[in-house]
Amino acid sequence: MWDYTDKLKDHFFNPRNVGEIKNPDGVGEVGSLACGDALKLTFELDENGRIKDAKFKTFGCASAIATSSVLTEMIKGKMLDEAAKITNKDIADYLGGLPEQKMHCSVMGREALEAAVENYRTGGKKKHELEGNIVCTCFGVTDKEIERVIRENNLTTVEEVTNYCKAGGGCGGCKGEIEKIIETIQGDRVKQPIHPSPRKSTKLTNIQKIQLIQQTINEQIRPALRADGGNIELIDVDGNKVIVAFRGMCAQCQLAEFTLKDVVEAKLREFVSQDLYVEEDKDSAQQPHNHRG
Ligand code: FES
Repeated sequence: MWDYTDKLKDHFFNPRNVGEIKNPDGVGEVGSLACGDALKLTFELDENGRIKDAKFKTFGCASAIATSSVLTEMIKGKMLDEAAKITNKDIADYLGGLPEQKMHCSVMGREALEAAVENYRTGGKKKHELEGNIVCTCFGVTDKEIERVIRENNLTTVEEVTNYCKAGGGCGGCKGEIEKIIETIQGDRVKQPIHPSPRKSTKLTNIQKIQLIQQTINEQIRPALRADGGNIELIDVDGNKVIVAFRGMCAQCQLAEFTLKDVVEAKLREFVSQDLYVEEDKDSAQQPHNHRG
């Protein structure tokens, strides 16, 4: 049984704005029945370019129905440009979160919105087309779509990519290709650490601090550890104490202690706050040792 929020259950049992607008200004159709999820979004604008009405028809699971329902609520009343900025994360957040395995439903919502906006802007002349080359033939997912969900959601594993866009969730034949895309993007992040930038003493709220710690781990620390066959997980943040667990590394390894202070703590102090110190949660560390070299 999935761990659904009350808001998600409410939108599943009482979906809003079901149906299809007659003579809509924009139409977005994504997914396919063969792949298990399909969504048709239609909207109508008022004379000022504000979304007056939006409706959806969805074939799919409870999450697909609930995300489609909230999407229509989120865009109604917004100017088109403003609505077009909505991300899959915004949709998931609006529901109070989605199970990781269901994040692809929020991505489908964002894609339908983009398709509908594109349909409106091209006067209905252009159908939303998949960009890039198909990587996952089971679900018809292209390399560009995979790259996008990885970059927008800071994904680091094939399993996460499957959760967000289904690629890799069928025969598994595309997993090697997905792994290569992840490695290329992580390589880019190491070479061009644009974000986050080193920060000085600006006061952070607790939520900002935790988000920045997670972002620094995703973008600055994990790629370096993965290059050596390891990984890291953020376990908790307690004041200035950051508790992490190494994966794929031996908890007793001296190199792990070095990595903890000279890589993890140093990066977190550089990018988040000079006051942070890091401890390893040895109870949740995994065996066995997997260092290369
Ligand atoms: S080709 Fe991607 S899961 Fe089959």
